[in-house]
Amino acid sequence: MRPGRFITLEGGEGAGKTTLARTLAARLSAAGLPVLRTREPGGAPGAELLRGLLLDGDIVWDPVAEAMLMFAARREHLAKTIRPALEAGIWVVCDRFADSTLAYQCHGHGLDRAVWDGLMGVALGDFAPDLTLVLDLPPEAGMARALGRGAPDRFERLGAAFHARVHAGFQAIAAAEPGRCAVLDATQPPAPLAAAAAAILRDRLGAPL
Ligand SMILES: Nc1ncnc2c1ncn2[C@@H]1O[C@H](COP(=O)(O)OP(=O)(O)O)[C@@H](O)[C@H]1O
Ligand SMILES: [Mg+2]
Repeated sequence: MRPGRFITLEGGEGAGKTTLARTLAARLSAAGLPVLRTREPGGAPGAELLRGLLLDGDIVWDPVAEAMLMFAARREHLAKTIRPALEAGIWVVCDRFADSTLAYQCHGHGLDRAVWDGLMGVALGDFAPDLTLVLDLPPEAGMARALGRGAPDRFERLGAAFHARVHAGFQAIAAAEPGRCAVLDATQPPAPLAAAAAAILRDRLGAPL
């Protein structure tokens, strides 16, 4: 049983995911729907501990180990937070999910896609988002926005070529799964971007927005 809807927001650093997640959650809530806003890595107590190791530590992880930690956190998030919320009829808006691991670890760092496929199968089975909004912004613009936000984390400190590969990765993901994914022009200011996102939720998920 899954009466709630699972919506993920994806895209590079500074694309506006967190800002849009807040606005969408507020709009869904104002429309009378129960909403949970969450984010990755994290979203459950154990997953938040793993987030600290992944984003703030100075360990250079083996790429497969890093992907395993990401999926361990994701499995914990799904089991403890996302699935119970969906079963209770709650609409879940999630800032990053499995596509980020594919874009960052595989497209960005060259991790074998078969590792991601295998970890997906173990951690998620056939679970997938009902809708994924991919925020498309040139990576240089995203980095400029993200740096305006404060001290860069470990992923933000990776170079321009890395972020260009991540950006291309998100485009490839959206192109490969047009039924699940919708690409949004994230160069727009926050208000029209949120309006475009709301229209997609209305059209694809029947959200009363
Ligand atoms: N649509 C937008 N246009 C311009 N600036 C934005 C937009 N959305 C967010 N910002 C600003 O850009 C920075 C990064 O936004 P944020 O939502 O944190 O991005 P992300 O979560 O994708 O890294 C913040 O300072 C935010 O206020
Ligand atoms: Mg964010």
